[in-house]
Amino acid sequence: MSNVIQEFSRFAHQYDHYNIIQVQVAKILAEKIPLDNYSTLLDIGCGSGEIFRKLQKKIKTFELFVVLDSSEKMLEIHPQTEIVTKVCANFNDKNFIDALPLKQYDLLLSSSALQWSNDLDFTVGKLSTLSNRFYAAIFTSGTFKTLHRTANINSPIYSAEKLQETILEYYNDASFVLHHYTLDFDSVREMLQYIKKSGVSGGEKKLSYRQIKYLMEKYPLDHLEFEVLFVNAKN
Ligand SMILES: C[S@@+](CC[C@H](N)C(=O)[O-])C[C@H]1O[C@@H](n2cnc3c(N)ncnc32)[C@H](O)[C@@H]1O
Repeated sequence: MSNVIQEFSRFAHQYDHYNIIQVQVAKILAEKIPLDNYSTLLDIGCGSGEIFRKLQKKIKTFELFVVLDSSEKMLEIHPQTEIVTKVCANFNDKNFIDALPLKQYDLLLSSSALQWSNDLDFTVGKLSTLSNRFYAAIFTSGTFKTLHRTANINSPIYSAEKLQETILEYYNDASFVLHHYTLDFDSVREMLQYIKKSGVSGGEKKLSYRQIKYLMEKYPLDHLEFEVLFVNAKN
C-alpha cells in the first residue's frame, strides 16, 4: 500500500469534514455532464460517492454504475444500490482494468483523484480504452502554489499543461477549463492540518520541523490555494 492510499483510508470516517473543495468540484463536474441516455458509467477514484449522489438525481437511465477506488474503507462508505458495482483496484497497477465488469462504458468520470496517477500516460491510456466520453476534474500543481513556493518545495502533482498534453494524446477532441479556489484559515498550523487530512496532499514528502517553523513565519496568505483542471474529452 502506498502512502497516498493509507492517508485516505486513515481519515475515511472523518473525511466528509475535510472535503469542502472536493464536494464543490464534484458538484461542478456533475453539472457539466449533459443529460443523455447513458446506461453504463464508470467513476474512477469514487471516494465516498459524491459523484454518485449528484448524478443519481440528475440521470435516471443508468443501469450499471461501476465505482472504482483503491481504498476498501472509501468503498464501504460509498452508497450501495442495485445498480452500483464496487471495484477495489489501483489505477497505477498494470492490470487494473481487468478487475472491471465491463470493458466499455457510456461515460467515464473521475473527480479529484487522477492527480495521484504515478504514470499519467499509463493511466490515461488505459482509461481511454474504456469509454469515448471522459469527464474529469484533476487537481494541478497550482494547488498550494504559494505554500510550496514559500517552503521551496516542488508540487508532487502534475501541472495543467502536462495533464492537457497527455489527455490530448489519447482523445481526438478535448476541452479544458481551469478553476481556482481558496480556503481561509486562522493559522498556518490549521492549514497544514487540513492539507494532511484532506487527501489532496497524499504524495507530498513530510515537511521537516524547520520547514514548518519557516512556513509559520513567512507564509504570506491567510488562505490555501487550489487549482483544478476540468476535462471534457471525446473520441
Ligand atoms: C480526493 S478523493 C475524491 C473522491 C470522490 N471522487 C469525490 O469527488 O469526492 C480521491 C479518491 O481517490 C482514491 N485514490 C487515490 N489514489 C488512487 C489510486 N491509485 N487508485 C484508485 N483510487 C485512488 C482515494 O482512495 C480517494 O477515495
